[in-house]
Amino acid sequence: MTVSWRAPGRVNLIGEHTDYNAGFALPFAIEQGCTATVEARHDDVVSVASRQQDGPVEASIGRLQPGSGGWAGYALGVVWSLAESGRELPGLTVEVDSDVPVGSGLSSSAALVCSVATAVDDLLDLGLDADEMLALTRRAENDFVGAPTGGMDQLAALRSVESHVLFCDMRSLTTRAVPFPLDELAVLVVDTRAEHQHAGGEYRRRREGCEEAARRLGVSALRDVAPDDLDAALARLDEDELRRYVRHVVTEDERVLRTVDLLDAGDSRAIGPLLTASHVSMRDDFRITIPQLDVAVDALLDAGALGARMTGGGFGGCVIGLLPTKGMDEAIAAVEAAYDRESFTAPRCFPARPSPGAHRTP
Ligand code: GLA
Repeated sequence: MTVSWRAPGRVNLIGEHTDYNAGFALPFAIEQGCTATVEARHDDVVSVASRQQDGPVEASIGRLQPGSGGWAGYALGVVWSLAESGRELPGLTVEVDSDVPVGSGLSSSAALVCSVATAVDDLLDLGLDADEMLALTRRAENDFVGAPTGGMDQLAALRSVESHVLFCDMRSLTTRAVPFPLDELAVLVVDTRAEHQHAGGEYRRRREGCEEAARRLGVSALRDVAPDDLDAALARLDEDELRRYVRHVVTEDERVLRTVDLLDAGDSRAIGPLLTASHVSMRDDFRITIPQLDVAVDALLDAGALGARMTGGGFGGCVIGLLPTKGMDEAIAAVEAAYDRESFTAPRCFPARPSPGAHRTP
């Protein structure tokens, strides 16, 4: 018997680098995703093949080593994580097929991990609940692959709801789907095609900086610095770098909450300035943008976007713009012209439609 599940990539509407600070994020699933098809075997081997990669990669379940497997490590990590938690598992044949661009900040890795985890759960009738599924997929990525990501991507891949954004409270790990109807408005994704491949060290540096700042301020996470206390908190930190990190995280949490309030009130158009303010904060305070990202944001705003920002971890990847649907072609042309002027590699532009989270496929 084979079982197939599809899990999506995501864009983040707003709330960047807040997840590992126990704060708030507002991602939504995109149409692009990864489909995992799994089948039990009569030996103890896990074999992972991908339509997009060379392979298969094979390993015996009892001998899985964190850090191994290359691209297949995301799938091996799911099996390792289940075995570590004491489950008896048969060998498994896993086949994956993904149309999420890799290295574009659209969470191709969370799509892969979550499609495999949900398919294995279903095939073996493990009955994992939502919290266990989140913990499993995070362990695969954090502890097996060794990517210190913060959990938002997996939540988006697992729990997103069509036509909604997913309000994530990263302390309680609870989520609420907030309606985000897009008819007169569209979210345009600009994939800068600058891969965020060297971003690992910079991501870790910010994460450790935020943790250090929280320690010095005597809070368990930067989530606990109230906006009204921000100036006092900044005054207690000596280093400019830590002050900038704190200012970004505290103001970004606040922007997420204001965005959610506006969407709850049905006023999608009004969130534009918050998106743009988020970009400015990432550019000037958190310092995770690169020229390709800033040029795309400026071109979108000049072309009539209500708001625009980079999305994801930074140092490459994608920008999103909130636009009147009828202005989409003009905005794409404006970004392409700006990239041409700068001699950047031509961007890839496509609309993002809020899509469902992980689901079984026929
Ligand atoms: C990456 C990580 C996420 C999150 C974002 C920034 O996408 O995987 O956990 O930290 O960066 O918001």
